[in-house]
Amino acid sequence: MISEPTAPVDVRARRGEPLPAQLLDDAERMPREELETLQLRRLRQTLRHAYDNVGLYRKKFDEAGVTPDDCRTLADLARFPFTTKADLRDTYPFGMFAVPMEEVRRVHASSGTTGRPTVVGYTENDLSAWADVVARSIRAAGGRPGHKVHISYGYGLFTGGLGAHYGAERAGCTVIPASGGMTARQVQIIQDFRPEIIMVTPSYMLTLLDEFERQGVDPRATSLQVGIFGAEPWTEEMRREIEERMNIHAVDIYGLSEVMGPGVAQECVDTKDGLHVWEDHFLPEIVDPLTDDVLSDGESGELVFTSLSKEALPVIRYRTRDLTRLLPGTARPALRRIEKITGRCDDMIILRGVNVFPTQIEEVVLRTPGVAPHFQIQLSTHGRMDHMTVRVEAEPGAGPERREAASRAIAKGVKDGVGVSVEVAIVEPESLERSLGKLRRVKDQRGK
Ligand code: DLL
Repeated sequence: MISEPTAPVDVRARRGEPLPAQLLDDAERMPREELETLQLRRLRQTLRHAYDNVGLYRKKFDEAGVTPDDCRTLADLARFPFTTKADLRDTYPFGMFAVPMEEVRRVHASSGTTGRPTVVGYTENDLSAWADVVARSIRAAGGRPGHKVHISYGYGLFTGGLGAHYGAERAGCTVIPASGGMTARQVQIIQDFRPEIIMVTPSYMLTLLDEFERQGVDPRATSLQVGIFGAEPWTEEMRREIEERMNIHAVDIYGLSEVMGPGVAQECVDTKDGLHVWEDHFLPEIVDPLTDDVLSDGESGELVFTSLSKEALPVIRYRTRDLTRLLPGTARPALRRIEKITGRCDDMIILRGVNVFPTQIEEVVLRTPGVAPHFQIQLSTHGRMDHMTVRVEAEPGAGPERREAASRAIAKGVKDGVGVSVEVAIVEPESLERSLGKLRRVKDQRGK
């Protein structure tokens, strides 16, 4: 039977309204106690599955003197060894799969900056659980059945495109599988197909925004209501920039291939206060990246995940390298949140003894008038000193005085806020490389 079409809800008008209860999954409504009982049951199964079926886990557990039966409470997890990206590299490509290859329905891989890629695999159940958590994320972002979702995350070995795709279908949305690139055409498609939702990296959203303006399209007047942005760090300043220029809600989605892909944690549009971890599938911990000690909720450190339902590639205490802290639930009271991720251990630049994250530079650049939100960080060595140059594009039409003032304001903002002296070069509009997906902001020429 064909039902009467209903006008899709306008999410923009609904800020502050919680998701109707019938659109919540069970795990989003469970009392914390019940959730923890579920977590412990799944954790014990996962540890057993990993130990029995993956040589590397058996060896590591044996070396640490623990067996899956030693996990009697959630806190016992701390007795088990960590897993790192190096473990996946060392067993490349399929050595950490815990099921026979015939049961693996799909693989993805992350390119990584050096060496071999890491390969991840999914059974049919894994793919279904993944679609469920992404669908849940889309609903938390304001998506509803009947919405059209334009997906500009890359399709292919990267988990972004296909992960978002099957989640949006599961949520009852209509998918526009645009993938990354062909920017002019994407803008045309958004104009013609009128999606309510876009899923894309924040840096590629800026590339699209510029293209809207180049084509003479008012970005505030498009059909888009919500952007679900992730796959790279971005700041509150970037949220404001995108929300104002596009008249949309910008919410954060987090995930990583080793743990699943997009949809490990999601920010709710009604609160925009950090990302709820879908804790029925992924158990988070925060550890001190130097001492490996487990930290309490509220303390900042490295995010570590243990998968609770994965069959093909269970991960035990996987070190994400991402820095954040755990906070109590809000829009989903029983599910803890992670604070917006400000950086990775790997992205941290140590400049003359001061730790600097590219997001700290982003904050300063984005609140400075006279420049565009496009910048690049160059590191070089002068004599024995490390040196940072922040290259920022001038706003179109900004004359010499405005550029000079912007340059001074950025240098001062970084000095005051971060504590280091940097050189600022204001460059011509449209002269810096644009993102087509994940942007690499730092050009390290030290020692070259
Ligand atoms: O980037 C999965 C993803 C796709 C997430 C689309 C969200 C949207 P990987 O390529 O394995 O997987 O990269 C994972 O990206 O460890 C973080 O450092 C970073 N990252 C992902 N989401 C966020 C976010 C995908 N919302 C790595 N904020 C992670 C900050 C993020 N960093």
